[in-house]
Amino acid sequence: MFVRRVAVVGVGYVGLTTAACLASLGHRVVCADIDKRKVARLLEGHVPILEEGLTELVAEGLASRRLDFVVGAANAVGDAEVVFLCLPTPMGAGGAADLSAVEAVIAEVRELLPADCVLVTKSTVPVGTAARVVELLGRDDVSVVSNPEFLREGSAVRDFMHPDRIVVGSDVQHAAERVSALYARVGVPTVLTSAASAEMVKYAANCFLAMKLSYVNAMAELCERLGADIADVAEGMGFDHRIGQSFLQPGPGWGGSCLPKDTHALLRMSEAAGFDFALVRATIDTNEQQRDRVVEKVVAAVGGSLDGVRLGLLGLAFKAGTDDLRDSPALAVARKLRERGADLVAFDPAVPAPVAGVTDDVLVVGDPQQAVKDADAVVLLTEWPEFRKLDWADLAERMAGRVVVDTRNLLDQDVLRLADLDTVGIGR
Ligand code: UGA
Repeated sequence: MFVRRVAVVGVGYVGLTTAACLASLGHRVVCADIDKRKVARLLEGHVPILEEGLTELVAEGLASRRLDFVVGAANAVGDAEVVFLCLPTPMGAGGAADLSAVEAVIAEVRELLPADCVLVTKSTVPVGTAARVVELLGRDDVSVVSNPEFLREGSAVRDFMHPDRIVVGSDVQHAAERVSALYARVGVPTVLTSAASAEMVKYAANCFLAMKLSYVNAMAELCERLGADIADVAEGMGFDHRIGQSFLQPGPGWGGSCLPKDTHALLRMSEAAGFDFALVRATIDTNEQQRDRVVEKVVAAVGGSLDGVRLGLLGLAFKAGTDDLRDSPALAVARKLRERGADLVAFDPAVPAPVAGVTDDVLVVGDPQQAVKDADAVVLLTEWPEFRKLDWADLAERMAGRVVVDTRNLLDQDVLRLADLDTVGIGR
């Protein structure tokens, strides 16, 4: 196999996972970030994010010397054959992706990149960005490739090592082949295409997933109104292999650092191209309505008003298996409950302490018992499996009220019934 000298710029969950996994595939990887403290901690083996298997891979990479961390992109790219840009592309003004981090790094490294090197964008970037990067670089001897990532937070290492597919796009075929060869040991179908198509695959996939979730959440609402059960409906739909069982779990709406930003960005791209992508707009609107529907459920569960009502919240992260609070539906719902006058006490296994500016609407406590104490109702917002195994009889005794709003349909209703608690779910 070819061992390549790789540089990865950005040690967020995408960059760090990419770097650690490429090192474990045998490549020599130098990973750069502007955050000195993060780099120093990583050199000691401290992984700053909750990501299964990542700490072990980083330790292995450091021990084998196939993985190194440096401060500043300029210090990583000097002898790289392939440079991956894994930088944040947050939602900018008007919903379009903000590319300032990508542009800044290109300005920093453009003269330092060795001849024949390949520059790869892994960050989710608007269609047409690779062409723009070629212009910004202004180098005929450096090729640009788009290689979007499909990693889910919480299972990023598994998703990298066992992906459904790898997508590599470039207008320079040998550069695309060089990047796809890095993954030779992963052994899955690779789609080789143009840079613009590769960039579009990422948006198309994430927005389709968001649409699937909005569809199932809206279907859950209709199930409630017409007396059907969304769990059975989703199961019945999911056996059709054209639909599939995954991503059919209703909830308080979808969130996180990717789907919200990518749906907005696709909508902006469509508008700029003169196309009204009504499906994507409806996907976003339905998600906003879902959060409101959850709030109305809670209001109804406590008798019509949240004024002075004490609620115990279980879960703050945007999904289970991560400590990421970015665009968390749990926090969006919490904010709305707070605006309606509720007092909120919350527990999340991955968020042990308040995060200034983020969890200001809730009092964060260290265990579920404190969260539910004297609560008029409990609202479960993140699908942590451990919530299912809680001692619900004990929790019921600590609560003032009798109702649990389970926005993830996670809990065993029979167990709660035995604890003399009523469960309000989604779509049942
Ligand atoms: C998402 C995509 O799933 C990845 O393929 C993609 O690589 C990544 O974005 C990215 O662009 O980097 P992620 O943001 O980690 O991954 O989260 P998901 O697992 O997709 O969950 C998104 C939201 O949907 C969460 O709020 C989750 O709770 C919700 N969800 C998911 C449901 O409500 N029901 C489901 O059945 C599945």
